[in-house]
Amino acid sequence: MSGPRILLIVGGGIAAYKACELVRLIRKGGGEVTCVLTEGGAQFVTPMSLAALSENPVHTSLWDLKNEAEIGHIQLSRQADLVVICPATADLLAKMAAGLADDLATTLLLATDKPVLAAPAMNVRMWQHAATQRNVAWLRQAGVRVMEPDEGAMACGEYGPGRLPEPEAIWQEISVLLNAGADPLAGQPEFDAQPEHRPLYGKHVLVTAGPTHEPIDPVRYIANRSSGKQGYAIAAAAAAAGARVTLVSGPVTLATPPGVDRVDVESAREMAQAVNAALPADVAVMVAAVADWRSEDFAAEKIKKRGAEPPSLRLAENPDILATLAASPQRPRLLIGFAAETEDVIANAVRKREVKNVDWIVANDVSPARGKDTMGGDSNTVHLITQAGTENWEPMSKQAVARRLVERIAKALVDG
Ligand code: CTP
Repeated sequence: MSGPRILLIVGGGIAAYKACELVRLIRKGGGEVTCVLTEGGAQFVTPMSLAALSENPVHTSLWDLKNEAEIGHIQLSRQADLVVICPATADLLAKMAAGLADDLATTLLLATDKPVLAAPAMNVRMWQHAATQRNVAWLRQAGVRVMEPDEGAMACGEYGPGRLPEPEAIWQEISVLLNAGADPLAGQPEFDAQPEHRPLYGKHVLVTAGPTHEPIDPVRYIANRSSGKQGYAIAAAAAAAGARVTLVSGPVTLATPPGVDRVDVESAREMAQAVNAALPADVAVMVAAVADWRSEDFAAEKIKKRGAEPPSLRLAENPDILATLAASPQRPRLLIGFAAETEDVIANAVRKREVKNVDWIVANDVSPARGKDTMGGDSNTVHLITQAGTENWEPMSKQAVARRLVERIAKALVDG
């Protein structure tokens, strides 16, 4: 099957019957659909109709041991190219915003690493309720594409916004999101439809992301807790702003953002080489949590547990990629480093900016007490340290940090 794979979550609302029409449209368009039916959804459509239309088994329960053994429920959300929620009820949106996972649908939504499109349908007052509007705003800034519901007469007799968008409109939106790979800026309404009018058009932005793995022997390595999410979000935001983006990535489990040229590496030394090969660049944002040390000796065979004494690990220092780039004749015009600190965050970062001779440092607190959600999590509380001083940004999603940083980069390039 070469067409796009859609995971369709059918929520519990009267509009659920329209999900059948959406399945038909996706199939007609050459896509493959796997349906997940919530308990509420099953009050309105049967698994049988969805299975017949999609020609795939329909999943309803988190506790289906047979399927768990066969594929694992997390896998369901990873095998898809796109997750679509139709209809997205007020309850589903609230659970997503809160990060709840108490059934198969919400568990998949929390576990997915794929883009998510939500087509809301609910009573007009539920849609307009401050709680729903807050949840929708939060989900949108976290990168979920929440469509606007249609306006009109509702099944409950009221009138206003809250009707499910027509299946044709949802299918069109699916195509836009899936084609985002071809046009990195599609689905990014905040930027001009013409790529050449976007703020970073014509610029090359180099981003490093993720951890590095420093091998000890063929099966063991030294690593750190970096997930790569912040660096990937910056690469995505820069591409959406029109830049040509090279993303040099350590080992992570994230999908390549649309339009980004990704180079995979493992160790710090490989990362240094890949960064060098990607030059020249107008801007470099070094987000990777590069291991400062590697094992001095690499054992060609797996080290065996012989005798009573554990082997001792001698460490050698890795190249400092950021400092090397800062000193290079090919130094990008704007060089940005990250500083993950566990104490004296700002003072350390201010010092690091000067010592490493970089233009900006984005500093965050990753101490277990304050930064427990930062490393590996979806939000970040950062300080932007420039020559002009320190800005303390309020806590926000990593996507929002990325967008704001990219806006600042675009402005800095214009201002010179
Ligand atoms: N960095 C790098 N190469 C290294 C280490 C770090 O390019 N070998 C970059 C990171 O990508 C980040 C910045 O340097 O942008 C800050 O990394 P950090 O580990 O905080 O700096 P260190 O010099 O290692 O300082 P510390 O003494 O706090 O470990």
